[in-house]
Amino acid sequence: MKDKVAIVCGSSRGMGRAIARKFAESGAKVVMVARNEENLLQSMREITSEIVQNGDKNVMNRVMAVPGDVTRKEDIERVVRETVEEFGTVHILVNNTGGPPAGYFEELTDEDWYRAVDLTLMSVVRFTRLVAPYMKKQNWGRIINMTSMSVKQPIDNLLLSNSIRLAVVGLAKTLALQWAKYGITVNNVAPGPIYTERIKELSWARAKKEGITYEEALNLWVKEVPMGRMGQTKEVAELVTFLASEHAGYITGTTIQIDGGAIKYVL
Ligand SMILES: NC(=O)c1ccc[n+]([C@@H]2O[C@H](COP(=O)([O-])OP(=O)(O)OC[C@H]3O[C@@H](n4cnc5c(N)ncnc54)[C@H](OP(=O)(O)O)[C@@H]3O)[C@@H](O)[C@H]2O)c1
Repeated sequence: MKDKVAIVCGSSRGMGRAIARKFAESGAKVVMVARNEENLLQSMREITSEIVQNGDKNVMNRVMAVPGDVTRKEDIERVVRETVEEFGTVHILVNNTGGPPAGYFEELTDEDWYRAVDLTLMSVVRFTRLVAPYMKKQNWGRIINMTSMSVKQPIDNLLLSNSIRLAVVGLAKTLALQWAKYGITVNNVAPGPIYTERIKELSWARAKKEGITYEEALNLWVKEVPMGRMGQTKEVAELVTFLASEHAGYITGTTIQIDGGAIKYVL
């Protein structure tokens, strides 16, 4: 990972933050992206000071925060432009953002669908389009899309996630085949329940709605997980860092689940 330039979207908290931290720890130059500037800067400061404490002072020159909304074309252009101005190129792109809202088919409007397409699919299309020329030119690239176990096993009330994330998987497979000749790998990561701020917020909301305790709401996530627990963000970061590294050069076009065994299908 040393001196590889990575853009990690949605990295002020949750899985994105853990990925940014692991990349930085592994010697990469990291551009962190999220909408809320204050939270993003706070996360960047925490990450770099932890790594400095572990003896790597140089990390201060390797991590940069660029606030931006991945649903906005202009913001994506600015993130890539500022990355290239600062670090010269892009080697690794991690497409990650908030999840589309829950909802059953009968509840969802055209607006909900279009917003979810912008958030989940077009953000990947636009970022990928802008970084690909650098990856092709240097004959090396890693594109990793954070999706969900919903791409392998639909989740009851997550219609938008179940539907639109599959477009990302189809896109990734196609690009993996077409761009292998440029040394670019394209893979998807499909997490099951991972203990992040999002899961905590959803659990508080569910507890309130269903009149159960927060702990009971948390336990509902692991009911279907053979490991009997949620995943940790650092476990996800380990997998993504491996996929982004030299070691994973022969892995492309895959969708790798990290779910404690939650997906029950054989393939
Ligand atoms: N946690 C799980 O169990 C789980 C399981 C399967 C799939 N997933 C999916 O994996 C992704 C990450 O999950 P997480 O739990 O780590 O989420 P999280 O804790 O909510 O973190 C989401 C991150 O993305 C940023 N973000 C959200 N919308 C954005 C936008 N429009 N533009 C730029 N940044 C944006 C957030 O910061 P700002 O709000 O400041 O922008 C934050 O840094 C989500 O798509 C989620 O649906 C999660």
